[in-house]
Amino acid sequence: MTAMHSDVPDVPDVHAASAGRRGAAPAVDDLSAAERLSIDELRSLQLERLRWTLRHAYDNVPFYRAKFDAAGVHPDDCREPADLAKFPFTTKQDLRENYPFGMFAVPEQQVSRIHASSGTTGKPTVVGYTASDVDNWSTVMARSIFAAGGRPGHKVHVSYGYGLFTGGLGAHYGAEKLGCTVVPASGGMTARQVQLITDFRPEVIMVTPSYMLTLLDEFERQGIDPRTSSLQVGIFGAEPWTEQMRQEIEERLDLHAVDIYGLSEVMGPGVAQECVETKDGLHIWEDHFYPEVVDPLEDDVCDDGVTGELVFTSLTKQALPIIRYRTRDLTALRPGTARPAYRRMDKVTGRSDDMIILRGVNVFPTQIEEVVLATDGLAPHFQLRLTREDRMDHLTVLVESHPDTPRDRRSAAAAEVAARVKDVVGVSVGVDVVDPESLERSVGKLRRVLDQRPAQ
Ligand code: DLL
Repeated sequence: MTAMHSDVPDVPDVHAASAGRRGAAPAVDDLSAAERLSIDELRSLQLERLRWTLRHAYDNVPFYRAKFDAAGVHPDDCREPADLAKFPFTTKQDLRENYPFGMFAVPEQQVSRIHASSGTTGKPTVVGYTASDVDNWSTVMARSIFAAGGRPGHKVHVSYGYGLFTGGLGAHYGAEKLGCTVVPASGGMTARQVQLITDFRPEVIMVTPSYMLTLLDEFERQGIDPRTSSLQVGIFGAEPWTEQMRQEIEERLDLHAVDIYGLSEVMGPGVAQECVETKDGLHIWEDHFYPEVVDPLEDDVCDDGVTGELVFTSLTKQALPIIRYRTRDLTALRPGTARPAYRRMDKVTGRSDDMIILRGVNVFPTQIEEVVLATDGLAPHFQLRLTREDRMDHLTVLVESHPDTPRDRRSAAAAEVAARVKDVVGVSVGVDVVDPESLERSVGKLRRVLDQRPAQ
């Protein structure tokens, strides 16, 4: 297959876009041809690419051939996008079992990049890209940064980690493709990051929301008001974060905080992006990634608007075509707004495997985040500790006091959190308000849950 056409937006007037700070979201002035497709045009492009992908996977990856044959389906059975539902799912376990390169559909010599995600147990999940895949990835990332409000000529400070993680390099290539100046800071060395932001004056920062909080504290530690920084747009993702967290970050930094989603098995960051002018969920770049939402238990495809597990099929990937990949992320699909043909997904507030089942009640860390951020006197830093006593599971929320909060306010704040969690989530939890700066800080993806229960 030939490389997909490059569809980076043409260069808009840089000065017009960067004139206003927060409050003046950049106008949608210059979209690529692909972003202007009608729904009908998009559906026919998807079908063509879907049929190519199914054929490519079947012909070149023994795993897919065996799975399709066992399920009694053939690539020719896909005559409309809904026919995809006849094809089998792919899971992380499938990628692990084909470690390292068994899922690749091109000869190794044609793979120009490899990434991997560490995973908590066992072998990493390995993903590969041809040069054309990297180019398409850069295109969707360039589109994402543009949708977030980044413009050619902007400086983009990238604090996502560089290396096997897709965050740093994915952001980097997209920002370069858009015509930005990239500062490849990566994660860590927090004091120096603040210095670089202060001295280089970037308009855009790309970082996990939890590491943004760490950076914000460091600004304050150095006696610099973060609101005076040059930053206008923050593109935050790689982990769940809430509307409350958006408010907190926007207020403390005076910028637009928008959400970016992606996963390495499907590509990396840039699978879906929230548009700065609407901030109403993330538009999925459906000309490269076909989304479905399925009932996590029954496996049936859900109608748009119904929450379930997000499933993706790649549409243009050469090295690692992926068919109906179960992301474990929970969301719902909605009609497009700022990019009308492209469906949106709700902010991902949890993964099915982040969910804590506490005495029969499902608890997501984001639910606790909402409560903590709405309680006076507390800092936005918290951790969840799971323990077992007398064969009962207990959840303790460890949350830092705000540095200005008097000590005698702590027990009242703890009681408020416990009461609201009981009210909103329906379970009793312990709450410990601890000293400022006493909990582990994130330099990338934050580990929210400390599971200290004995192994079963
Ligand atoms: O986290 C890719 C990425 C990098 C996305 C930078 C955005 C920014 P993985 O390491 O493979 O890839 O982890 C993918 O992270 O299945 C979600 O559970 C979670 N995730 C990613 N973005 C978001 C988000 C990168 N915006 C896994 N909101 C996914 C919630 C997210 N969860």
